[in-house]
Amino acid sequence: MLPPDSKLEQATQPVWSAGVRVLHWVLALSMITSFLTHEGGGRLHEWTGYMALAAAALRVILGFAGMGRWRFSQFLPGVAATWAYARTVVNHTEARYLGHNPLGGWMVAALLVDAIATGLTGWLFTTDRFWGVQWLEELHSVVGHALIPLLALHVAGALFTSWRHRENLIAAMLHGRKPAAEPGDIN
Ligand code: HEM
Ligand code: HEM
Repeated sequence: MLPPDSKLEQATQPVWSAGVRVLHWVLALSMITSFLTHEGGGRLHEWTGYMALAAAALRVILGFAGMGRWRFSQFLPGVAATWAYARTVVNHTEARYLGHNPLGGWMVAALLVDAIATGLTGWLFTTDRFWGVQWLEELHSVVGHALIPLLALHVAGALFTSWRHRENLIAAMLHGRKPAAEPGDIN
């Protein structure tokens, strides 16, 4: 906690709650560890995969049932609004968002869908009913490998937005604070 009169307290504002941050890094680390240990699908691969599945499922539940920045309705606009935002990015006129911008929001949704699809297909593949079923093994492989381009886009998007708005989004996912909103920013 910062003292309320400190310089940093005045210049920044809290954006990501401790819950958002902890869930993010649990999801990210378990998913990446599961990917790195995928050879042969051993115990570590399976347990970190289950952890990723549980974290992603909890994030989806909170996306519908949580409050404030947890809610998908806060950061997943329709196609027209997302397209309009993308055009402002191309024109270098995009607004700064305190939470996820529309493109970042859809990126988040894609990562969550991929985490759930990978975790579910991995789990099904180990059940008696689906053991050895070829198409399921292939599907698990496809969605499992899809993590890499999605993750690359996710991190590239965070770095790009950090550069465009002269702020550090990755550090904000660690300490939870961002430079305070200014007129024209979208909270
Ligand atoms: C498999 C790995 C990862 C997954 C599945 C993942 C997933 C997510 C999700 C679901 C969110 C939304 C947070 C929320 O609203 O609850 C998010 C946000 C974010 N992630 Fe990741 N993430 C991963 C790895 C990373 C890595 C490696 C970095 C940086 C080095 C990173 C940086 C960020 C940042 C900066 C945000 C907030 C973006 C913003 O300010 O709008 N993520 N990520
Ligand atoms: C959610 C994160 C996960 C990721 C990113 C992931 C990714 C992968 C990848 C890339 C492969 C290699 C597929 C290939 O050979 O082409 C694999 C294999 C495998 N995974 Fe996962 N997986 C995840 C979760 C799980 C879970 C939760 C389970 C089961 C409890 C599981 C069980 C397996 C098994 C048994 C294999 C070996 C399949 C074989 O021998 O061909 N995975 N996984």
